Amino acid sequence: MFGFCPILHGGGEGGYTDLPQSGTRFLVAYLLVNDNQGLSFSGWFMILVTGGAGFIGGNFVLDWLAGSSEPVVNVDKLTYAGNLDTLSSLQGNPGHIFVQADIGDRAVLDALLAQHKPRAVINFAAESHVDRSIHGPEDFIQTNVMGTFRLLESVRQYWSALPAAEKEAFRFLHVSTDEVYGSLSQTDPAFSETNRYEPNSPYSASKAASDHLVRAWHHTYGLPVLTTNCSNNYGPYHFPEKLIPLMIVNALAGKPLPVYGDGMQIRDWLYVKDHCSAIRRVLEAGKLGETYNVGGWNEKPNIDIVHTVCALLDELRPKADGSQYATQITYVTDRPGHDRRYAIDARKLEAELGWKPAETFESGIRKTVQWYLANPQWVANVQSGAYREWVGKQYGTTAGAAQ
Ligand code: NAD
Ligand code: TYD
Repeated sequence: MFGFCPILHGGGEGGYTDLPQSGTRFLVAYLLVNDNQGLSFSGWFMILVTGGAGFIGGNFVLDWLAGSSEPVVNVDKLTYAGNLDTLSSLQGNPGHIFVQADIGDRAVLDALLAQHKPRAVINFAAESHVDRSIHGPEDFIQTNVMGTFRLLESVRQYWSALPAAEKEAFRFLHVSTDEVYGSLSQTDPAFSETNRYEPNSPYSASKAASDHLVRAWHHTYGLPVLTTNCSNNYGPYHFPEKLIPLMIVNALAGKPLPVYGDGMQIRDWLYVKDHCSAIRRVLEAGKLGETYNVGGWNEKPNIDIVHTVCALLDELRPKADGSQYATQITYVTDRPGHDRRYAIDARKLEAELGWKPAETFESGIRKTVQWYLANPQWVANVQSGAYREWVGKQYGTTAGAAQ
C-alpha cells in the first residue's frame, strides 16, 4: 500500500522514489536532469510551493511556469479546496512536479527538500475559508498553525545545512492575509504593516499565529523569511464557496444569491494574478524579515460586488426570460463576528519594490466572469459531494446551493 498519490506532470525521463514515512511508504515523483532543455531538477534552480493546487497557489504555479523555465515542486494535500483540474494545462510540462502531501508531515518535507534542494519555499497551503473556520476550527489550527510550524522546522533544518552562498540566497516566503489586522471602522485608515494584530475569526487567528511563528523563526534562528499580507483575491480557479465565484455560479444556476446581513461589509479586492506578481517581486527583492501588505485600493461593499457580477452576467449571458440576475439576491443571516471593513495600504510594496497591480477592479471582474462562463466544466468538477454537503450545511437546502 502507498500512503500518497504522486502525480508527475513532466513526461519523459522520470520515476518514483520510495521514502520512509511513519510506518507507511509513499511515492515521490522526480525527474532526472534534462540537459537538452538546460533544466537541472536537482540543483539550485528550483522552487517549492505548498498549496499549489488551491486558488492562489494554482494561479501562481501556472504564472510561474508560463514566465520561467525554473521548475516547481508543488506540495499539496488535496483537501476539498485543492484541485488538480486547475493544473491540467501542465500535463507533460517537465517543470511541474506535483506531490500529494501534508505540510505537517516532517518526514515527507525533509525528504523533498533534501532531494530537490529548492532555492526558495513559498507557503500558500492553508485552510482559508472563514465560514468553515466558524463551523470547525480544528483543521485551521492543524494546518495553519501546526502545519506551518512543522514546515518551518523542516525548512530550518534544510537551510542550516546549506553551503554559505546558498544559505545566504535562500528564501522562505509566507503568504498571509489582511484579516490578521481585524476590522476597520468607516473612517479608520487602511491597514499598514505596523497595525496591531487583532484577528477576530478562527481563520484569521490561525493565520496570525502562523505569521508570528514565521517572524520568530527569523528573529530566533535567522531563517531568511518574507511575509505578505494580502487583501481579498478574486479571479480564475476560485472555489465557489467564496463570495464572487459563489455569486457567479449560483446566478447561472438560477439559485438565490445569499448576501450576509446588510451587505454593507467592505472588502478590498485584488485580481489574483496581481497577487502572484507581488509575491514574485517580494521573493526577488524583499528585505529579509519584512512584511509587505498587498492590495489594489479597491474597497467595495459586498452588495456592490454582487450587483456588479449580476450586471456583467446580464450583459454577457442574458437570461432567456429577460429578467435581471439581481432579482436572485437574497439577504440571509449574518456571519457571526463578521468583520465590517478591510482595507490595505500597499504603499510600502510600491515605494520599496516598485510593485503595482496591472488590473483595475473593472477589468479584473470582467475577466473573472468571462472565465467562469468559458469554464463550466471546471466548475462542475469542483462541485463534488463534499461541496454540496458544505452548501447544504451553510445555507440550508435552497439559499446557497449552486447545484
Ligand atoms: P485555497 O483554500 O483555495 O487553497 C489552499 C490549498 O492548500 C489547497 O490546494 C489545499 O489542498 C492545500 N492545503 C490545505 N491544507 C494543507 C496541508 N495541511 N498540507 C498541504 N496542503 C494543504 O486557498 P487560497 O485562497 O488559494 O489561499 C492561499 C493562501 O493565501 C492561504 O494561505 C490564504 O490564507 C492566503 N490568502 C488568501 C486570500 C484570498 O482572498 N483567497 C487573501 C489573502 C491571503
Ligand atoms: P469570503 O469570500 O468568504 O471572504 P472573506 O470572508 O475572507 O472576506 O467573503 C467575502 C465577503 O462576502 C464577506 O464579507 C462575507 C460575504 N459573503 C456573503 O455575503 N455571502 C456569501 O455567501 C459569502 C460566501 C460571503
